[in-house]
Amino acid sequence: MDTFEETIRLHFQKNFEKEPQFFVKAPGRINLIGEHTDYNLGFALPAAIDMHLLFGFRPNPISSTFRLVALDMEDDFQGNINQIEKSHKNWANYLLGVMKSFENRGIRLQGFDCIFCGNIPVGGGLSSSAAMECGFAKGLDQMLQSKLDKWEIVRIGQETENNFLGVQSGILDQFSSTFGLVNQAMLLDCQDKNFEYVNAQFGDYELVLINSKVKHNHSDSGYNDRPKECQEAIAAIQKRYPNIHSLRAVSQNVLAECETIMSNKHFRRAQFILHENARVHAFCEAFQKNDFFSLGRILYQSHFGLQYFYDVSCTELDLLVDLTRNENAVLGARMMGGGFGGCTLNLIHKDHSKEVTERIMKTYYQQTKVSPEAYFISIENGVGLL
Ligand code: GLA
Repeated sequence: MDTFEETIRLHFQKNFEKEPQFFVKAPGRINLIGEHTDYNLGFALPAAIDMHLLFGFRPNPISSTFRLVALDMEDDFQGNINQIEKSHKNWANYLLGVMKSFENRGIRLQGFDCIFCGNIPVGGGLSSSAAMECGFAKGLDQMLQSKLDKWEIVRIGQETENNFLGVQSGILDQFSSTFGLVNQAMLLDCQDKNFEYVNAQFGDYELVLINSKVKHNHSDSGYNDRPKECQEAIAAIQKRYPNIHSLRAVSQNVLAECETIMSNKHFRRAQFILHENARVHAFCEAFQKNDFFSLGRILYQSHFGLQYFYDVSCTELDLLVDLTRNENAVLGARMMGGGFGGCTLNLIHKDHSKEVTERIMKTYYQQTKVSPEAYFISIENGVGLL
């Protein structure tokens, strides 16, 4: 039984004197490489992980009331399906935004009860918000028999971020949570939305996440500035190359030629995206050859770019990465996700991963007085009914 199923059943009985009718499981995600490339129509290599949210649903078709209970937040929300609008409860807005997207598609909502909980740390850069959106959307789809395909679930999640919550994010998180497959990463082309599964085995090495416990909220972190700055970089390039509409279409030669007609900041943003896209392909090639040393090197290069060219790291994340540099068992590390806090992704030899991680966490605590957390993750399936 899923760890959270029993808890949700108990709370259903206690709160609603009923049993849930079905459950939806929605995972968080990692991104092996390809950061901030999604809204620049580039490439990324994400995967769904074994940290997840579980939703219990019970339809109540004769009522226009819906009731939501967030067990981890010890909070609830009640509303009417005929009046879906933004509320003062931040967590509820992720779900209300999804309901609004259903409504915008002409799908008639009905009353229901939903209780959820999970173990994806909020603000940890593991996309707990995408898991909320996509898991909840899958549950509504099941309840309303709207037969939405996976891409529609992804779009509903992204619409919620962009239009309801005001975060100008791309499709990376919702895509990963929805399409994830056990032991597979996904090489995603964010321009035409094609993707292929890539076997994600790391030999004697394993992936370890270390949570800096610095929390970010993409609506006010500076995340929203990056899509804007990339658009400004494109606008500068368009003065010479009017047919270029995304950084994806910019070659290294074109960027070098345009360096003098844009600010240093815009140049660094664009340069990072070009390099990061190239790193996704280099990472996949190294993967095919089981060349784990190259994977590690690429992770460090990506962190350097995120730190100095894209400016989305922070001192705590830099410290976590720097603490790995003298550890022979660590092949590579970088901050992961949108940035400004959250987790680092570390590739560590299995025989030493526990002790190395403990050492890094101890020094991190001594220097910051913040207790980090480590997650030894595995790659799992995406959103689905239990
Ligand atoms: C956040 C956003 C994604 C993506 C990443 C950075 O997770 O939600 O769309 O831009 O940051 O790769």
